[in-house]
Amino acid sequence: MITLQEYVARREAVFAQMLPNSLAVVAAADEAKRSRDTEYPFRQDSDFYYLTGFNEPEAILVLVNLGQSQQSVLFCRTKDALAEIWQGRRLGPDAAVDQLAVTQAYPIEAFATEFAGLNKGCDTLYWSHANEALTDKLQALLKVQRQTGKHAQVPSQWIDLCPMLHEMRLFKSAAEISVMQKAADISVDAHKRAMKFVQPGCYEYQLEAELKHEFAMQGARFEAYASIVAGGANACILHYTENNQILNDGDLVLIDAGCEYQGYAADITRTFPVNGCFSEAQKKVYQLVLDAQTAALAALGPGKKLTDAQDICIRVLSQGLLELGILSGSLEDIIQERDGQPPAYRQFFMHGLGHWLGLDVHDVGNYQQNGEARLLAPGMVLTVEPGLYISEQADVDDCWKGIGVRIEDNIVITDDGHRVLTAAVPKTITAIEQWMKSS
Ligand code: GLY
Ligand code: MN
Ligand code: MN
Repeated sequence: MITLQEYVARREAVFAQMLPNSLAVVAAADEAKRSRDTEYPFRQDSDFYYLTGFNEPEAILVLVNLGQSQQSVLFCRTKDALAEIWQGRRLGPDAAVDQLAVTQAYPIEAFATEFAGLNKGCDTLYWSHANEALTDKLQALLKVQRQTGKHAQVPSQWIDLCPMLHEMRLFKSAAEISVMQKAADISVDAHKRAMKFVQPGCYEYQLEAELKHEFAMQGARFEAYASIVAGGANACILHYTENNQILNDGDLVLIDAGCEYQGYAADITRTFPVNGCFSEAQKKVYQLVLDAQTAALAALGPGKKLTDAQDICIRVLSQGLLELGILSGSLEDIIQERDGQPPAYRQFFMHGLGHWLGLDVHDVGNYQQNGEARLLAPGMVLTVEPGLYISEQADVDDCWKGIGVRIEDNIVITDDGHRVLTAAVPKTITAIEQWMKSS
């Protein structure tokens, strides 16, 4: 669990990096309409959540840094008996001060009038450059402020808050890692459940339902992203989420699914045979992807670069594709770009090795520093997810066509290497077949 003290400490860490006489404005997510009078389940903006732990829409956090005085000011929906009968409970400004440990809280309607007072004496405004609605709102308020002459001296410098905040989010605290381990553990069990449940003739969305059931029964109501359950050649569509096909005897099924637990994502992929036994061709492709992942994992730790692990992974995959006769030529030939054409291996492995993981499944944080791939450091959490996707149209022997395999685990970089958060899902061919067979 992320404690109230940790949220306060995060805000203090932002204050410590803000320029003197500055303020930062961070907005909650908007609700998204699904159909008339109904919304998608609300998902808070990750930056806002990181700084508040507050899960309501129509809210704004303002951090004011004036010399010795630092104030966290929250604007949120007021208590409203009728609205709460229709739409659900609200925290309200009065309770927010205690529950979120902010200095002051006001009704969201008061933002426009209070903002001028809050930015008084501030030269610098931090905000999220990517949030167009917030940008427009702040520009409009400052324009009025200038024109009316009251507090006419408005902040002259705008700085994007995201680089600072996202660098903080990239390094997970002990509490965050323990929440992410829980998200991983629940997701592990969901994958194991799906492996046990699958049989020829069931639908992809029925496996999806098994995953969701396990998530919910263990306290994670939502998926971290739309689950991918892709039978046969559907696995070659990287972001396949239709999940509406029958799973056929003799095919593999690729599941890429993870729950969101207390805001944090897990992101696991396993690929396994619908009938419980890999065919010879499937075994060869699967083992190659597994070897590539094993080699990549061995190259990940503090002081290492994700790009170096990716190069190693590409070499293993490319060498294997040559040995299987799926590609021909020399290893260097198929790894290198030629005449501006993508390298040959890329028709079968067209995405990156991994990405940061955290509140967002594709989490924030720079992958580069000073123009180079950054060095990994303890507390970073990332995925390691090589794959091979041989479409039905590929110019290869028929035995390989329609085989798509990805294996994805989540790791945390530690002082002396890394720890795999998702190691408990069966992964070797033998372990998968045994797990599927066992009662
Ligand atoms: N589930 C999305 C990804 O693996 O990046
Ligand atoms: Mn994934
Ligand atoms: Mn991923």
